[in-house]
Amino acid sequence: MHATEIEADLTEVLVTEQQIHGKLAELARRIEEDYAGRDLLLVGVLKGAVMVMADLARELGSHIAMDWMAVSSYGAGTTSSGVVRILKDLDTDLAGRDVLIVEDIIDSGLTLSWLQANLRSRGAASVEICALLRKPDAAKVDVDVKYLGFDIPNRFVVGYGLDYAERYRNLRDVAILAPHVYS
Ligand code: XMP
Ligand code: MG
Repeated sequence: MHATEIEADLTEVLVTEQQIHGKLAELARRIEEDYAGRDLLLVGVLKGAVMVMADLARELGSHIAMDWMAVSSYGAGTTSSGVVRILKDLDTDLAGRDVLIVEDIIDSGLTLSWLQANLRSRGAASVEICALLRKPDAAKVDVDVKYLGFDIPNRFVVGYGLDYAERYRNLRDVAILAPHVYS
């Protein structure tokens, strides 16, 4: 798809590719420092976190391992219910591991607070969270994000891994989807 074809579906770019890469480099320096000498496992949440994971992981100079989970909110509809179903589980035994969950976005916070508790219950030494985006105005539960990229307004955004009906994930920036696309 040609870039301008996607751009016609957007109202506003919220975070540019350049800002994302700058921020991930900054977070990577902090992560390297905090986990120096430890054996870090990055857990990416499919599918939205694919781009964040790919870019963050390559900013890290130290040895890391990567694994993936796919989860979905159990309830019907578009809002998180807080009950989460595992669609694809990890291949890794978490006992004694230092785990960093890598997520695209925190909306209500329900998915991540469930996931953090779930991974902790498997005997991990530590379970922290890195999220590129957060919508503070949508928070239903407090999530303790150790590494955060950007706070954004409570609008539906796409790009850099985030989708609408599986599209727009390949957009390099994070942008607000134009209403004409879903109305
Ligand atoms: P909660 O509410 O549990 O949900 O924090 C987080 C998940 O909801 C999805 N989500 C979005 N996806 N644009 C998207 O493409 C958005 O603006 C958006 N807000 C929430 C996303 O899957 C995330 O993992
Ligand atoms: Mg997601």
